Amino acid sequence: MGDGAGCRIIDLPRVTDPRGNLTFVEGKAEVPFDIKRVYYLYDVPGGESRGGHAHRGLQQLIVAAAGSFDVVVGDGTTTARFHLNRSYYGLYLPPFTWRELGNFSSGSVCLVLASQVYSEDDYFRDYDEFLSARHEAEVAGIAPLPATAR
Ligand code: TYD
Repeated sequence: MGDGAGCRIIDLPRVTDPRGNLTFVEGKAEVPFDIKRVYYLYDVPGGESRGGHAHRGLQQLIVAAAGSFDVVVGDGTTTARFHLNRSYYGLYLPPFTWRELGNFSSGSVCLVLASQVYSEDDYFRDYDEFLSARHEAEVAGIAPLPATAR
């Protein structure tokens, strides 16, 4: 747990109950952005990986809603590996973060809260293009966006 490559674990609220536990996420409260989109990965076959891209403007919170998986993040200089295995931990990813998801357990669900609706134009799918754009953004003082909440 902790921080790495500009990403950090956010400890989400937990309402524990003998009938089953509950976690909630509200934009601008638990996460430093308004939530515009939710998507989830499921039925991931063993050994498969997802991701392999970065975003220009998108901020995301990744939660292991069920099961577990690894998220390897990189800012072009450093990388960090986060093992997500609790429904009350969210991994915050600022813009200009390269990510790879893998080591999915059987039946796992990767829930993603996102700050923007889907746009292919927001993607870097080429690592070298990501590196040079990130460098340019750093020189211009615009990457990554500060994560201010919590
Ligand atoms: P992608 O983000 O590339 O997934 P991954 O990095 O895990 O492989 O998305 C895979 C496909 O799904 C891509 O063709 C775009 C589509 N997609 C949407 O239409 N809407 C969405 O919100 C997302 C996340 C993906």
